[in-house]
Amino acid sequence: MLKTRFTEAFGVEYPIAQGGMQWVGKAKLVAAVANAGALGFVTALTQPTPEDLAKEIQRTKDLTDKPFGVNLTILPTITPPPYAEYRRAIIEGGIKVVETAGYKPQEHIDDFKAHGIKVIHKCTAVRHAVSAERMGADAISIDGFECAGHPGEDDIPGLILIPAAANKIKVPMLASGGFGDGRGLVAALALGADGINMGTRFCVTQEAEIADSFKQQMVANDERATDLIFRTLHNTARVMKNKVSQEVVAIERKGGAEFKDVQHLVAGARGRAAMENGDTEDGIWSAGMVQGLINDVPTVKELVDRIVAEAEEIIEGRLQSMISRYAEAAE
Ligand SMILES: Cc1cc2nc3c(=O)[nH]c(=O)nc-3n(C[C@H](O)[C@H](O)[C@H](O)COP(=O)(O)O)c2cc1C
Repeated sequence: MLKTRFTEAFGVEYPIAQGGMQWVGKAKLVAAVANAGALGFVTALTQPTPEDLAKEIQRTKDLTDKPFGVNLTILPTITPPPYAEYRRAIIEGGIKVVETAGYKPQEHIDDFKAHGIKVIHKCTAVRHAVSAERMGADAISIDGFECAGHPGEDDIPGLILIPAAANKIKVPMLASGGFGDGRGLVAALALGADGINMGTRFCVTQEAEIADSFKQQMVANDERATDLIFRTLHNTARVMKNKVSQEVVAIERKGGAEFKDVQHLVAGARGRAAMENGDTEDGIWSAGMVQGLINDVPTVKELVDRIVAEAEEIIEGRLQSMISRYAEAAE
């Protein structure tokens, strides 16, 4: 058993979370994560309407009686989704924990907290973590440069970002970005985090509802198989390297690119279609550097059990044996 401030505060067995994932964070995966003793998040905006989200929450409840949460991603769009209605679906669905991510979370944090819901705010910079804590977040998930999706614009890897955030944050903190095994979990704990958040690793499990070809591609890929797109638009995203991501990078490299120049390549509908028909070269797909540490497609339970067992073995065995007084006591 690994007991941390995160497991205590959120009532889960293991210090492991599955962050929100567009198109992937659905009932089957989230329930499997919950049943394995970790904390999974249904991704609100994967559901086309708040009514669909209410149904997805119910579907998840039908598959598990363990705690799970909902991710609400706050997009910097001109015409935002009906956030208040999505929040209503979450509150009325009896959800007890929400992962927020993105810009200006205050109104969301206020509404959730007024309804007794705990908020884990995910962000990519120490200054944003500090202000989210000030806004009332119950925990922080700090996402390093290695992560899939949006790593921010500061390019600070976890090795620095996690302890730098731990120096400033008082509430429990999850380390996110680049985690996939027990070694990573122990490292995160050593750096001052209370647990880990994973995205890419959970995509490559039996229960993730994505085409098998994508899972096999991520197993085959190494740690170099990502591209950073939208760098020049100051909205960087780390995605799996493929023909489309390379085309986007080439257009951006020419300079002066606007969103409309790459829109046909990065359209969500195109990525979703690719994911459904299994063509890994067609469309943009969020994936992290941790692909280099992924070698199989286990069930979620096998994965979680393995990470925890490996972490305990490292702490009790390898690390403890390095401290001479323990080695002497064992002789
Ligand atoms: C396919 C995919 C989709 C994602 N979509 C979202 C999203 O909609 N909202 C969000 O907050 N994070 C999203 N993320 C980020 C994850 O929640 C998590 O922070 C990130 O994957 C951690 O890095 P890792 O992939 O190295 O574990 C996504 C990640 C992946 C792999």
